[in-house]
Amino acid sequence: MPISTAIAHTNIALIKYWGKKDAQLILPYSNSLSLTLDQFYTQTSAQPAQEDSFILDGQVQHGPALAKVSQFLDLIRDHLNTSQKLAITSQNHVPTAAGLASSASGLAALTLSATSALGATLPRKELSRLARRGSGSACRSIYGGFVEWQKGSDDATSYAVPLDVHEAVHLDIAIIALVVSKRPKKIASRAGMASTVATSPFYPAFVKSNAVDLKAMKKAIVAKDLAAIGQIAEANALKMHATNLGAQPPFSYFLPETLQAIEAIHELRAKGFLCYFTMDAGPNLKLICAGSDSEALMQALQAKLPEVTMILAKPGPGAHLVS
Ligand code: PMV
Repeated sequence: MPISTAIAHTNIALIKYWGKKDAQLILPYSNSLSLTLDQFYTQTSAQPAQEDSFILDGQVQHGPALAKVSQFLDLIRDHLNTSQKLAITSQNHVPTAAGLASSASGLAALTLSATSALGATLPRKELSRLARRGSGSACRSIYGGFVEWQKGSDDATSYAVPLDVHEAVHLDIAIIALVVSKRPKKIASRAGMASTVATSPFYPAFVKSNAVDLKAMKKAIVAKDLAAIGQIAEANALKMHATNLGAQPPFSYFLPETLQAIEAIHELRAKGFLCYFTMDAGPNLKLICAGSDSEALMQALQAKLPEVTMILAKPGPGAHLVS
């Protein structure tokens, strides 16, 4: 039986997805916008088999981990009108303890390898819709460069689109992952956003402001204005995290180490470095800067934060088949 192998890279949201209108279909309240990275990817192979199976990073998975993959494969099988089971082997290429979630790259690679192993060559809009059902942010990893997830209003209309038709990035941008803590995160994004939507009085304000930020971000990208991109992304991330403080019970992804790193970033900014941060459902930060400044910035930051692991990433490609 032929094996289909796909690679998908992770993406970092500059305008955040935080909150579902429909948890079953994974339809968000807001559009979001991300940059796909060249580091941190998942390589996944799928092959027709008697039963579904799942090997992740060399470990055979059973129980809930296998059930989650199998349920997602059911969605793909329904879509393609087949009952064919699949053997899945997946490898995450994320530097050890990078503290970065692999759900976006993982579900995007799984979508592409599984559909291909089932004999289908789907348009990327359909791949994006399917990946969305596995993990919302995965729908953006189908494409490279800057990508917008258009929230749509139902399953058919909620998918990602690249900002540039060639998925090219026309400015010198880099992302430095700052691993401030290796402690596992306290609240998964799924549970965190659900609680915030249901209980935080700040949530409607976030949704309103996300639409304004998205517009400004798209303008800044077209203008190649890296300072504006950084400013908008940092403010947008802080607004997302502010909604969590308003939830009942309140929660936060910030750790003391996160705040220390933010202070160091602010100090470097005061010294004239162009650097801003964004932050997702965990304590680690992603620095947004110019590629040409990245080495100097990493040196300056490392001197202030000797404990922090730093990994440099540049814009990367969309999901693709390698065999
Ligand atoms: O796709 P999920 O369920 O892992 O949620 C991702 C949520 C954030 O990373 C916090 C924001 C985003 O847009 O990626």
